[in-house]
Amino acid sequence: MNLGIAGRSALVCASSNGLGLACATALAAEGAAIVINGRSAESLDRAAASLRRRVPDAQVTSVQGDVTTAGGREAVLAACPAPDILVTNAGGPPVGDWRSFTEADWRRAVDGNMLSAILLIQSVMGAMMQKGFGRIVNITSAVVKMPHELLSLSTASRLGLTGFARSIAPGAIKHGITINNLLPEQFETDRLRSNLGALAKRNQTSLEEEVAKQIAANPAGRFGKPEEFGATCAFLCSAQAGYMTGQNILLDGGRFPGLF
Ligand SMILES: NC(=O)c1ccc[n+]([C@@H]2O[C@H](COP(=O)([O-])OP(=O)(O)OC[C@H]3O[C@@H](n4cnc5c(N)ncnc54)[C@H](OP(=O)(O)O)[C@@H]3O)[C@@H](O)[C@H]2O)c1
Repeated sequence: MNLGIAGRSALVCASSNGLGLACATALAAEGAAIVINGRSAESLDRAAASLRRRVPDAQVTSVQGDVTTAGGREAVLAACPAPDILVTNAGGPPVGDWRSFTEADWRRAVDGNMLSAILLIQSVMGAMMQKGFGRIVNITSAVVKMPHELLSLSTASRLGLTGFARSIAPGAIKHGITINNLLPEQFETDRLRSNLGALAKRNQTSLEEEVAKQIAANPAGRFGKPEEFGATCAFLCSAQAGYMTGQNILLDGGRFPGLF
């Protein structure tokens, strides 16, 4: 299926590794010109090389910067001031006992996983409205539907972004702009390894034991592959997905037991 986005511009935040890189790669494979971003220059170089290996004719621009800061957002927007496609993403907040989090921890989580995405969306919305086309995908988390006691920083901040996205979706689609959230659960990335490492420490087990327990609890009997996530993102950004907005799409191998 041709997704109809060849020649479109895409700004993919926090995309030097993991799910962001998978989204950037899938969009590049569809012919979109991509801006990738991350804080470490070394990971960005590795990401650009991996992207060009997988998509030899990819148009890729790398921007180093922390998107949770005003300076980082200015840098990515300078490279791509009027993207047709915006994928918001940033690293997740730490896992831990909610009683131990400080006010600074809460503010960092809100800045990183709610406000930075909202401010980027505000910055690009005007140009998308003028063009009559836009695709916005926020990478959030399955915790939005399945809150977990150890992930309260992530749950609280991402629900703020989820509410914002739903509130602006009806006004945005009048201008051909869709806004949807992708909710990952247990994709094979560094973030998953680090979360399971923290769980092993807390449970006084090993990483291997925690991996085995989690895989056994997943109906799919495995973790998700970042390429599967990237492909879903590319579809949400496609010409064909123009009638789909305000949605929270869970990618979890069937773990969520409810209907909505
Ligand atoms: N993997 C999962 O199963 C899963 C499940 C639920 C939620 N999530 C959420 O999905 C998001 C992506 O997860 P992931 O698994 O892909 O994580 P990851 O493997 O740790 O990759 C994160 C990427 O984002 C970059 N990054 C992090 N913070 C950044 C910032 N402030 N500014 C710019 N770049 C930044 C990192 O590079 P630098 O460190 O060099 O900046 C890296 O390239 C996270 O918010 C995570 O909490 C993931």
